[in-house]
Amino acid sequence: MSNLLLNEGYLDNTDLFYGAQDEKIFTKNKRYIDLSMCAGSILLGHNHKVFKKSIAKFISKKISNIAAPNINAKIFAKNIKKVVTNSEKIIFCNSGTEAVIKSLRLARAVNNKKKIALVTGGWHGSVDQLLYKTNKNLKPINLSSGLPKETYKNLILIPYNDFKKSEALLKKNKNKISCLIIEPIQACLPYENVAKYLKFLEIFCKKNNIILIFDEMITGLRTNCSSVQNYLKIKPDISTFGKCFGAGLPIGIISISKSISTKLQKINPKVFFGGTFSGNSIITFVGNEVLNYIIKNKKKIFKKLNTNSKYLQTELNKFFISNNLDLKIYRFQSILRLVYTKDLVKDRVSRDFLEQKKNKLISKFKDYIKNKNIYIPSSGIMFQSYSHEKKDIDYIIKEFKKGSLKIFTKNKKIN
Ligand SMILES: Cc1ncc(COP(=O)(O)O)c(C=O)c1O
Repeated sequence: MSNLLLNEGYLDNTDLFYGAQDEKIFTKNKRYIDLSMCAGSILLGHNHKVFKKSIAKFISKKISNIAAPNINAKIFAKNIKKVVTNSEKIIFCNSGTEAVIKSLRLARAVNNKKKIALVTGGWHGSVDQLLYKTNKNLKPINLSSGLPKETYKNLILIPYNDFKKSEALLKKNKNKISCLIIEPIQACLPYENVAKYLKFLEIFCKKNNIILIFDEMITGLRTNCSSVQNYLKIKPDISTFGKCFGAGLPIGIISISKSISTKLQKINPKVFFGGTFSGNSIITFVGNEVLNYIIKNKKKIFKKLNTNSKYLQTELNKFFISNNLDLKIYRFQSILRLVYTKDLVKDRVSRDFLEQKKNKLISKFKDYIKNKNIYIPSSGIMFQSYSHEKKDIDYIIKEFKKGSLKIFTKNKKIN
């Protein structure tokens, strides 16, 4: 919590959030339309009736929490497999970060190689081995102090969505690479046109005994009640999920394919996955109840999510073009991000490079939007929920139009 406070720069109680309902979050004095939705983990909306009922139901069952294999975890795992295709085995963790850490361990155990190929621009949580970004020359830059000095030596940074460079780097290092981890569609730049690139990675990894890990923490479930891998018909060896599956409660999920599962059984000593709260009874119960509701109402939920998101994107992009504003909304399903240039940006390194020249204007725009009672998290990633109504979207569109015109119109004196 304190870390979040530091990151968000909230020093004062008036800025702290006290509660949330549907598409709104509240501080003591203000109500915001929430576009963060608990960093994308709430699909139905805050405090949704199914979420509330499931917690009440859990309490009434007198199950308590059980740090041991339990029936709720078993039922939930079975249900997850209905929406996560290509899954032989489900392993529960407490967070996305933990799921990623354990996936890297699992990959190393399976093929006994040292290096990790990290595709740039994605985010994989607070994982020492992956807390790096790159500059344009693919040099690793620490995202935190305190990282072990050697970790970056085992990293090979692969430029997202760049076939030529990716292929050259992978070819050069293929015998040393244990796994390649990628956020297949990056929430920080939800750009859909990457199917060919992902297919190329799948083929290359299969051919060269490199374990392909798709980190679908954000896209899992949010992608039409399934995943990017299902949407694009790609079969990674290991996948990580979390967020929406926990319905707003902490969770991480590792899903492994049949071939990895078979290999895993033969490994000695066994790969360690345990933890006090892994697969705990309460989150697996609530997660399962909410998942059941989402599966049952899949058509109407995803129709609304995708229609509203597309409307928001289309209206704003039309407006930016007609007013010659150097802005563009990117979208994948119900994940959106305003990028502060109209030039086509294909990866995050280029996005950051283009945006950093406009930091002052961007910060003015963000203040404008916040003052209009719309909450966007510091990442800039905007998530729609089933509780956002057309009137909310119209209001967001209206304020984005007014704010962008005021702040980003060229040759205009900014106050
Ligand atoms: C793609 C991705 N992977 C991993 C994580 C880490 O998950 P958590 O914050 O639950 O540890 C995140 C969190 O935002 C994420 O977006």
